Amino acid sequence: MDSIVVKGGRPLQGQISIAGAKNAALALMPATLLSEEPLTLTNAPRLSDIKTMTALLQSLGVEVTSMQDGKVQVLSSHDMTSTTADYEIVRKMRASNLVLGPLLARHHQAIVSLPGGCAIGARPMDIHVTALEAMGAQIELRDGYLHAKAPGGLKGARVPLRFASVGATENILMAATLAKGTTILENAAREPEIVDLARCLRSMGAQIEGEGTSTITIQGVDRLGAATHPVVTDRIELGTYMLAPVFCGGEVECLGGRMDLVESFAERLDAAGVDVTETPNGLKVKRRGDRPRAVDVVTEPFPGFPTDLQAQMMAMLCLAEGTSVLEEKIFENRFMHAPELVRMGANIEVHGGHATVHGVEKLKGAPVMATDLRASVSLILAGLAAEGETIVNRVYHLDRGYEHVEDKLGGVGAQIERVTGV
Ligand code: UD1
Repeated sequence: MDSIVVKGGRPLQGQISIAGAKNAALALMPATLLSEEPLTLTNAPRLSDIKTMTALLQSLGVEVTSMQDGKVQVLSSHDMTSTTADYEIVRKMRASNLVLGPLLARHHQAIVSLPGGCAIGARPMDIHVTALEAMGAQIELRDGYLHAKAPGGLKGARVPLRFASVGATENILMAATLAKGTTILENAAREPEIVDLARCLRSMGAQIEGEGTSTITIQGVDRLGAATHPVVTDRIELGTYMLAPVFCGGEVECLGGRMDLVESFAERLDAAGVDVTETPNGLKVKRRGDRPRAVDVVTEPFPGFPTDLQAQMMAMLCLAEGTSVLEEKIFENRFMHAPELVRMGANIEVHGGHATVHGVEKLKGAPVMATDLRASVSLILAGLAAEGETIVNRVYHLDRGYEHVEDKLGGVGAQIERVTGV
């Protein structure tokens, strides 16, 4: 298995191009199941999660053509052969559950394995299931699979979500485009990836209003057509690279970065003594002093501070002046990076959903283990500041969500390399 080796202490200078959003692409790709006509996605990220979604869609009979080194994906569902999403693929990635809504909507049936994904909490499917049932689906759990059918098709309904789940909002949004009548999705998630999905569905002919707010109204149509859609910028990759110069000094411009995607995160950075400025091409970041200042962080659904940037922010706060408290309100078990950061000299106490970080002046390089996607990149960031060499082992999680991390950080002056293992 590959490792990433980082030697800390070098200030960074230059530009990093931010890719299209993994989480947007993982919802946009299954949208192809709603139409016989091709869906072309541009600005797609080159990631192993995208390959997993490709394999899943291909197992259903979708034709996927990858062009321009993976940046353009053309998907065509004109000749589907299956409506069963097999455990062997679904277990690799929770977002596989996003085929459920579209399959039910167009084929009136689906058998979808319960998903796996990062080990960051229980992550059940009850919100998706309750919402689809409200639209007339009959769903049973048998042998680890959700067996769903909607004889005669899904029907528009009032669908209140008990929690603003991102995946459930995406599944219902897609399902409702082909349902009979009007669906009013209440307490919908407001993430930019949902806005992006709604825009793409609208280009395919869907009638949707209210994306980006808590109430989305979808008027079902008989069929959807072809579309070409550019994937929105990855705000989590953006936030991750915005932090890089805070660890070791210098100034980095994140190309394609937009303030509206990272508002609450940028606000916390400002409070921590980090300057974020908008440029014609993106966002430029530089820390004001030698060390950041302690700040408290609470993760919340968008527009709150994203849980997917919590690990990276914690790594930064390990080096801050003062004591910070991080509260994780989205996933109950998302502090697995804390013990690894402690191995690098950090001072962190975890109590349930809270972590208290007492800032230290220095971190020291160590062999550490990546336990989930965002945890692994937080250890690489910590390595940028640490004295000596940090070896981040088991980086397959990293490759799920960051394309060419060693090239992007190496390109702005970091000493970082990938060591290919057995
Ligand atoms: C998506 C993102 C993930 C991000 C998360 C929260 C993708 C591919 N992944 O995941 O990177 O961390 O949003 O911003 O877009 N829940 C239930 N029942 C359900 C569904 C969810 O209890 O039926 C709970 C989960 O266990 C979790 C919380 O709701 O505690 C948030 O989950 P959700 O918003 O659904 O996240 P995902 O769509 O899985």
